Amino acid sequence: MPAPRVFSGIQPTADSFHLGNYLGALRQWVAFQETHDAFYCVVDLHAITVAHDPALLRRRTRVAAAQLFAAGLDPDRCTVFVQSHVAEHTALAWVLGCLTGFGEASRMTQFKDKAAKGGSSAASLGLFSYPVLQAADILLYQTQQVPVGEDQRQHLELSRDLAIRFNHRFGPTFTVPSPYIPGGVAKITDLQDPSAKMSKSSSAPQGIIDLLDDPDAIRRKIARAVTDPGSEIRADEAAKPGVTNLLRIYAALTGEQVAALEDRYRGAGYGAFKKDLAEVVTGALAPIRERAAKLIADEPALDAMLAHGAAKARPIARATMEQVSERIGFLPAV
Ligand code: TRP
Repeated sequence: MPAPRVFSGIQPTADSFHLGNYLGALRQWVAFQETHDAFYCVVDLHAITVAHDPALLRRRTRVAAAQLFAAGLDPDRCTVFVQSHVAEHTALAWVLGCLTGFGEASRMTQFKDKAAKGGSSAASLGLFSYPVLQAADILLYQTQQVPVGEDQRQHLELSRDLAIRFNHRFGPTFTVPSPYIPGGVAKITDLQDPSAKMSKSSSAPQGIIDLLDDPDAIRRKIARAVTDPGSEIRADEAAKPGVTNLLRIYAALTGEQVAALEDRYRGAGYGAFKKDLAEVVTGALAPIRERAAKLIADEPALDAMLAHGAAKARPIARATMEQVSERIGFLPAV
């Protein structure tokens, strides 16, 4: 049996990914290389659904790709590529858009949130059809599993519905994908507001540890992380959300159990614990940061790695799109 296919995407909308992205997604992506036929896409088409700066997009697309490779994705064991390099993404999105109900798209909560944020009259047609483009990403590769966070569940449901609808109307064409929302993944929260998820869109910079932060910045952010009344180092989500988050980060990066850490730091005080945690985090992120810096400094090499990924992705996307065109009734372009 061939290895099951996974597909996931990440937007190039920040100057660095953060620790929440790394522990919540990228680490699993790296692990999937061993067990799955894995496709990972830097979704630049999605990044222009809101106002953007072209030079910044170009830089962030490279920085995003560099971090994926630096975190351990191996261009020979998985496929890493840039969405706009494979034209079939937009071609299939058009077809799927014609199968999507206006009301159906209007119910997408992420669209409603983002549109409300920017003022709904400023929301673009692209932002509205964002989930349809995402469905095209997934369905083009006959994806079986889509590792995503809980916030993407509704988008995945739409991808499944569109696959089923197309197959039903035009004949079996698409694999119906399943979400893969892994259990046991550390939920990392904002260092300044431990009740909120660590998020590039809502956290203040002090609340986020960036993958590309230098060691001093990491030490400073951890030293200033919100702790809780008392001095006990103990996981207790309700009473001690700040300390609980720090314990989870520590455990996720060292592979230790939270209970073992509670034992080790009994009576130690927040200061000593945070100092050790800062060493754990800087130790884990330093190699990623160094590898990413090297890749970013050598644009031709990085661009060649992405060209290699697109060359692997394209034939698969093309084969699916040819089938779609035939089923839909488009003439072959001979
Ligand atoms: N919408 C996803 C997010 O914001 C990114 C994404 C785009 C994606 N295309 C995808 C994720 C396809 C999984 C599969 O996280």
